[in-house]
Amino acid sequence: MEKEKDPGLVQFRGVMKKFGDVLAVEKTDLDIPEGSLVTLLGPSGCGKTTLLRMVAGLETPTEGDIYIKGNRINDVPIHKRNLGMIFQNYALFPHKTIFDNVAFGLKYRNIPKDKIKEKVSRALEMVRLPGVENRMPSQLSGGQQQRIALARAIVIEPDVLLMDEPLSALDENLREEMRLEIDNIQRMLGVTSIFVTHDQREALSMSDKIVVMEGGKKQQEGGPEEVYNNPANHFVADFLGHSNFVDGVIQSRDGDSYRVKLEDGNELMAEGGDWREGDAVEVVVRAQKLDIVPRDSHQTDDAVNCFFGKIKERSYMGGEVSYFVELENGTVLHVIGIVKTKPFRRGDPVAVTAPPRHCKLLRKEG
Ligand SMILES: Nc1ncnc2c1ncn2[C@@H]1O[C@H](COP(=O)(O)OP(=O)(O)OP(=O)(O)O)[C@@H](O)[C@H]1O
Ligand SMILES: [Mg+2]
Repeated sequence: MEKEKDPGLVQFRGVMKKFGDVLAVEKTDLDIPEGSLVTLLGPSGCGKTTLLRMVAGLETPTEGDIYIKGNRINDVPIHKRNLGMIFQNYALFPHKTIFDNVAFGLKYRNIPKDKIKEKVSRALEMVRLPGVENRMPSQLSGGQQQRIALARAIVIEPDVLLMDEPLSALDENLREEMRLEIDNIQRMLGVTSIFVTHDQREALSMSDKIVVMEGGKKQQEGGPEEVYNNPANHFVADFLGHSNFVDGVIQSRDGDSYRVKLEDGNELMAEGGDWREGDAVEVVVRAQKLDIVPRDSHQTDDAVNCFFGKIKERSYMGGEVSYFVELENGTVLHVIGIVKTKPFRRGDPVAVTAPPRHCKLLRKEG
């Protein structure tokens, strides 16, 4: 994680955006620390692009203020904000050479010609496409064009790099490669970046901070491990990763853990939060955090958080197996296990254990 040099190179203060009657972004406060890569993550229509476009100057906030380096920029025109942008579709100028495409943002800055040449050449080296200055965009692959778009964005040495789903038009392999590319370059340059995606893997792998959004509202912000391991609510737990949810009621407290009576009749130990007896809760546990062993190898019936059942479904995913286990009381749990020995087959009797520290308590919503 990048060291926070100041609270936020980009700051949102009470920023809200309405399009007519549509509330695209609810009142939002957010800090983007200097040098960090912050990802806005959420499903389609949650307001990610709208937030980004307000930084870019392509939309005006209905309410609230945006600051870059401490200066309020609401009324600063686009070309005076020193920003690099990359979007889903590469948006290179098709009739300009790669050189002219990359040099575009430099031409209006009174930079001498030889200096421009040098900067373009350095940016192309950075995206590992040296020497393509004289080609046309159509003579490059989609992935290469997106690298040019990246070169064009960084060549101006922007205060902030804005990226709106820059990888989504690429196929799986290229995506991975380009993701690493962006990650490396961002870190090398230390450029403060806002990255928009609906892909949780992308967000988890490259972000210093993730802002999970839904319905125009910030649901949680934190480091990738924090939002993954300690989701703030049902939405976040459901959106990131494969989660099991079971409703229950707090029975008693035992140190940091709570005994929970589940609605399916089972009891379970879980952690997280501050609860009183009788509180309605939801227990969430990741499919990857459940352990699964053959029923007969598990003799101790009184083991904590141990449930017996049968394999209902299984799908082999190469290296991992995804199981749906039907417990004796009818509850179905999703378990994702690494294949160590022979995978279980449908109908096999198994024991599923859920380590208490991986059983997180959330307030029951609705
Ligand atoms: N120009 C506009 N006029 C009217 N409504 C808009 C406009 N732009 C966005 N919206 C609405 O604002 C909400 C947020 O849209 P936004 O584009 O920010 O979502 P998003 O999170 O980027 O979604 P996606 O993942 O599909 O790109 C949506 O309900 C959308 O329909
Ligand atoms: Mg969008």
